[in-house]
Amino acid sequence: MAENYKRYTVTAALPYANGPVHIGHVAGVYLPADIYVRYLRSQGRDVKFICGSDEHGVPITIRAKKEGVTPQQVVDKYHALMQQAFADFNVSFDIYSRTSSQTHHQTASDFFLKLYNDGKFVEQTTQQYFDEKAQQFLADRYIVGTCPKCGNDNAYGDQCESCGTSLNATDLINPKSTLSGAVPVMRETKHWYLPLNDYEAWLREWIVDGHKGDWKPNVYGQCKSWIDQGLQPRAVTRDLDWGVPVPLEGTEGKVLYVWFDAPIGYISATKDLTPDWETYWKDPESKLVHFIGKDNIVFHCIIFPSMLKAHGGYVLPDNVPANEFLNLEGDKISTSRNWAVWLHEYLLDFPGKGDVLRYVLCANAPETKDNDFTWKDYQARNNNELLAILGNFINRAVVLTQKYYNGEVPARGELTDYDREVLGVLEGMPMVIATYIERYRFRDALSELMNLARLGNKYLADTEPWKLIKTDEERVKTIMNIALQISASLSILMEPFLPTSAQKLSNMLNHPLGNWSAAGSADLLAVGHVIGTPELMFEKIEDAAVEAQVQKLLDTKKANEAETAVVEPAKENISFEDFSRMDIRIGTILEAEKVAKTKKLLKLKIDTGIDQRTVVSGIAEFFNPEEIIGQQVSILVNLAPREIKGITSQGMILMAENADGSLAFVQPSKAVKNGGTVS
Ligand code: 2FM
Ligand code: ZN
Repeated sequence: MAENYKRYTVTAALPYANGPVHIGHVAGVYLPADIYVRYLRSQGRDVKFICGSDEHGVPITIRAKKEGVTPQQVVDKYHALMQQAFADFNVSFDIYSRTSSQTHHQTASDFFLKLYNDGKFVEQTTQQYFDEKAQQFLADRYIVGTCPKCGNDNAYGDQCESCGTSLNATDLINPKSTLSGAVPVMRETKHWYLPLNDYEAWLREWIVDGHKGDWKPNVYGQCKSWIDQGLQPRAVTRDLDWGVPVPLEGTEGKVLYVWFDAPIGYISATKDLTPDWETYWKDPESKLVHFIGKDNIVFHCIIFPSMLKAHGGYVLPDNVPANEFLNLEGDKISTSRNWAVWLHEYLLDFPGKGDVLRYVLCANAPETKDNDFTWKDYQARNNNELLAILGNFINRAVVLTQKYYNGEVPARGELTDYDREVLGVLEGMPMVIATYIERYRFRDALSELMNLARLGNKYLADTEPWKLIKTDEERVKTIMNIALQISASLSILMEPFLPTSAQKLSNMLNHPLGNWSAAGSADLLAVGHVIGTPELMFEKIEDAAVEAQVQKLLDTKKANEAETAVVEPAKENISFEDFSRMDIRIGTILEAEKVAKTKKLLKLKIDTGIDQRTVVSGIAEFFNPEEIIGQQVSILVNLAPREIKGITSQGMILMAENADGSLAFVQPSKAVKNGGTVS
């Protein structure tokens, strides 16, 4: 496809270096960006793919405090972890930089100073919360108090996580500093604001009028609604000791706001990548594309472009293809609740299966709405699509060629209508896929790629060369030639999506991965070319592998529930009389067996000291009968007998219930003679 741009600057949101990358980040940002960039490279376009760690911001300082380390130690750890995971997942950044770098500090400072010197900021002195004990102004996240909406006592200065209301720190009732516990006081502080209101008319023209139809509806809609609501000046500095220091006299303890410095990180990373960085950022023939998640839209579509406009000389983003969110097994992905599939852990648990995750996350990408990742779907897509369609087709083509022709590509003879139809689809496919990719519709692009493999499979199933070989050898040559040409095109067309598998296929065909323009040809593999040895493209994923992942998530859920479980409030008071009417004794379990046709019931024989009696107890999910024989328990012996599943139960064993619903016996701390009273 012809384009007016000479080169591409493609950025992927700089992930915060306060935790690892999860599949939601991958599906939303890094995978679509990587597919786009790999495609552009295959088209021979000049492209720089930019990313790095976002190493400033309050969450990083909070994590550092919690872990008793420095913010630098936090970002060093996660920067290295993320960089490695991206590399192992074949995300082909041209540079993965970081915002704590010298280049970045300098670039962000210079950017701020230029705007300051050009009079683009408004200075404003306001009252903000200050912790006198810690001698520090308090970022919103450092203040907790009671939510005025729902009464939650642990609402933050910017948001109540209980009812979701966004708050100002001054809205909180009984505010408290999380640094020292002190009640904060109000103190004057000076900050610099970017008057976004001055850019409103320009933004309306540029986005609302200029990008209707070419920006995704979710992106366009969010921008329009922000602009329609009217824009306010935004502070670009903060009172904090972690970040890029404000480069002005007398501003100790002030840094640039993380959302001011982070997008400048794209520019500094490009500087670290190439001395020619200005061409990629300033030449109008450079196409700038930001891949982000939906929570970043306002920063990339409104604030950063306003900063670039205020500075002057920079190109503006041509597009910002933001995705919606990916959920996990029906629940929102959450770093703090550990409800995630972490990329680095996936790569350890499924070695060599990076492409499978790429496939599943692209096929199910949250391009237009939030989507759900489930391990069942992951397994099904691998087994029923990658393996059964793509892998199967290629395997047949390569194995039969080895078998019939010792690996030599046979010549085509006369073509049937069916052959011509198949070759026609093959020829058109690169354009179909390219068009989708250039419109940021990666799911559709991948689906077309699979359609080509599906067609190849169907072609072989319909023509049955394995039968025909006995009766019409010439015809089989044509069929196998066509199947091989499809395979060769597939290797090129799949490369952006499945780079490792594409390389494997290229090795199998003994044919280097060509450019996009070579794909679709009926003569990609020359007659007589000798292909390589067949290998399996994909492996079956067994139930046990995905069940282990589901179990991991269930364990996480249990742990979370236990952590947040509320202790039941105390019951109404009773008299001592009431209590003393209960006759609780220590007894020993003599026999235990499951009650037939029930899940929960055990039939126990207990020596109560008074007698030996039968008790039916609902504890079978938590205890093996053979393991509890001989244990001492507390038993209420004067509970009226009850009939349970045809057994008379005489009394009740006392149990303690854990937050996760599991049960434990209430036992004496040392052996007690059976019949001993509990009072
Ligand atoms: O949402 C985030 O993870 C941010 N760290 C993204 C920053 S993108 C850019 F501006 F650097
Ligand atoms: Zn609330």
